[in-house]
Amino acid sequence: MFEINNIIFLKIYQFSIEFLIIRVEYQQVPLNVYHEKNCNMPAGIDDLAIYVPKLYLDYKDFAQARGIDPQKLEHGIGIKKMALVDTNQDAACMASNACLELMKKNNLHPDDIGRLYVATESSIDESKALNSFVVGMLEQVYGDSSFEHAGGIECKFACVSGSYAIYDNTNWIRAEENNDKAAIVVVTDIAKYDVGSAGEYTQGAGAVALLIKEEPRLLALDPKVTSTIIKNEYDFYRPFGKETPLVNGLYSNLLYLIQVRKAFDSYKEKAMRTGLIHLKDGESITDYIDLFTVHLPYRRMGEKALAYLLRHEWRTLPRWQHVIKEIGFDEPVPNDSRGTIESTLADKEFMKADEQFRKAFMQTSFYNEVYEQKMASSLEASNIIGNLYTASMYMGFRSLLECEFKKHHDIEGCRVGFGSYGSGSSAMVFSGVIQQSYKEIVKNMNLEEEIGFRKRLSMDEYQILRENERNLNESYARAKNEFILVKIGGSTADKAGFREYCYCN
Ligand code: HMG
Repeated sequence: MFEINNIIFLKIYQFSIEFLIIRVEYQQVPLNVYHEKNCNMPAGIDDLAIYVPKLYLDYKDFAQARGIDPQKLEHGIGIKKMALVDTNQDAACMASNACLELMKKNNLHPDDIGRLYVATESSIDESKALNSFVVGMLEQVYGDSSFEHAGGIECKFACVSGSYAIYDNTNWIRAEENNDKAAIVVVTDIAKYDVGSAGEYTQGAGAVALLIKEEPRLLALDPKVTSTIIKNEYDFYRPFGKETPLVNGLYSNLLYLIQVRKAFDSYKEKAMRTGLIHLKDGESITDYIDLFTVHLPYRRMGEKALAYLLRHEWRTLPRWQHVIKEIGFDEPVPNDSRGTIESTLADKEFMKADEQFRKAFMQTSFYNEVYEQKMASSLEASNIIGNLYTASMYMGFRSLLECEFKKHHDIEGCRVGFGSYGSGSSAMVFSGVIQQSYKEIVKNMNLEEEIGFRKRLSMDEYQILRENERNLNESYARAKNEFILVKIGGSTADKAGFREYCYCN
């Protein structure tokens, strides 16, 4: 029996090659029953799998070569190991490796998948979508045309596009367009900055594949509260043909904080209007978010984002007096009333005083209690991998699950708040609730083991890699049980740009 709308049911009585007899029966279904079913169907993240390339730069080697205090990298930025792609890897290989791992560990067949989305800012073709390359690689394992029934696109909006992809696919499931199939969203990126720039120590690479399903085992996304903000900005961008981005570092930091806060304001309004969260006098919405995971260009940015959000949310509450008492001086106010990012950054006196206040706030027991309980676990992976652009926040989510489990914290029923940011710029804030069966999945997580052995590159080897002096077939690490890139460009002009991949056993 197929439900086709609120009031009509179809019954198939007889089917043969020649005849399909369908009797249409009218049956009154109350409108609210249909709508309730849609709205209440939990959908979200059922499982996830990661891929991290096998090369890394150690922060001490890097600091020595660039004449930087290693303490700055370890504590000021929050990086110890930066993952790097090998000569025979690109964002498509990493995506395929994460995707294959996800499918294997869940015994999934391509028939179970209705959509395969890839979100990236490390695209390899201006037209051909990165997920088509992934389908090609997966079909080497699952058979020709095994994904033909599915759909999907490549999504781009700097680091935030994966969140849009998850949101859209969750709604595809909620709308019951999925024909009982799941979606896979893969976030995959190579964060690469100019040699010698301030961005160079925030590099990284990797992919996370997320299984989006109804009745998910890990996290059910809260409906009707996802909030976005968008503005034309040039904080970080990569013009066509350029390998590395153009970055306005300080501007990008402040913009990230402001945009996520604005999206959070909108989330708060929706959460209260829909009744998801009821605030009593003196309470903050942050009291109702049990765990935070935010976009992590580097670990310290997550810590700063939490501080910014708490200051914003607590400033008008009675508890703020206690915070100020512990700090010992008042929060500064800008001298310039225009309130633009440019005017704020130009207000040097205010910026200096605000930095001082922010640092003092981050030392308070108030901040540290929230930080330790709600955010610290999500930052661990960033330390040893670096920026993954689209995949950063999802690697953070994974880190949160694993670390909380290892701390023996039972997080079933906890609400996780996500703060996703993409330069250019857009932010998305949403939330979800950890499901009863999450331990089934999380108990097997082991980041170090899943990353496997990694080769520590010397700075000379790194330099050679950066200058593209080695060919595809001169990789530093030996590929095993993974997809690699074996050739770019065919022998004839009509094959220019063709990419050939193979699975190495
Ligand atoms: P910088 O010049 O290294 O910044 O640039 P800094 O000099 O202010 O130092 C950073 C921190 O190190 C400071 O701590 C210093 O005090 C500390 P904080 O004030 O932040 O708490 N420090 C030390 N600590 C201990 N011992 C020492 C020491 N010296 C200094 N000896 C910046 C940092 C992030 C701007 C730079 O790395 C950069 O441009 N990165 C790339 C852009 C970026 O990551 N922006 C982040 C926001 S935008 C975003 O997230 C989007 C993005 O992911 C792209 C996308 O969306 O696709 C980038």
